Amino acid sequence: MKILAFAASTSRHSINKAFVTHAAERLCAEHLPDAAVTLIDLNDYEMPIYSIDREREGGIPEHAKRWYAQIGEADALLISYAEHNGTYTAAYKNLFDWASRIDRKVFQGKPMTTFAVSVGRGGGGNVLKVALASAPHFGAEVVSSLSVPQFRETFDVERGALRDEALAGALGEALGQLARHLVGE
Ligand SMILES: Cc1cc2nc3c(=O)[nH]c(=O)nc-3n(C[C@H](O)[C@H](O)[C@H](O)COP(=O)(O)O)c2cc1C
Repeated sequence: MKILAFAASTSRHSINKAFVTHAAERLCAEHLPDAAVTLIDLNDYEMPIYSIDREREGGIPEHAKRWYAQIGEADALLISYAEHNGTYTAAYKNLFDWASRIDRKVFQGKPMTTFAVSVGRGGGGNVLKVALASAPHFGAEVVSSLSVPQFRETFDVERGALRDEALAGALGEALGQLARHLVGE
């Protein structure tokens, strides 16, 4: 079982990266001990801003092809979205736009659990709503999702784990749903 995990952020200190790392660890520890997780960093996929002219002149960059191929090789995805001005970060949107020129069904039918983590009380609710509404149009099967507000209070950075018990339970449930989907229960 191959799991592809990433934060839709390029921040060096990304709270979404910290969270998705924790989620991937729990998925393996509690549900899928034989799973192999590949955690990627969107900084390794930096490309010129998408434009139709750049595409016509130079084709699709290797980074977009590599990301699309990694999705194709995975059995499931864990994505944690950072919220910038109510929607995706520019870095994620750029990668997504380029990949969508390979195949509009960017997610290739893969099951996924999506998260959004914020420092404020909103829990990235706006970007999560955007991601959930658009997912079916791009070949994603969202099995479960979770919004995580107030990261500095709810997450213990030193332990790399949630300290908020209700959220920890909700994460366990979201991961359990994905695992049950993957093993066909
Ligand atoms: C340009 C910009 C826009 C932001 N817009 C929002 C927003 O709309 N809602 C929100 O809750 N936080 C917003 N934030 C705060 C981010 O959610 C916060 O920086 C968070 O750490 C981003 O996640 P990351 O650390 O994984 O990159 C914004 C931050 C930046 C730099």
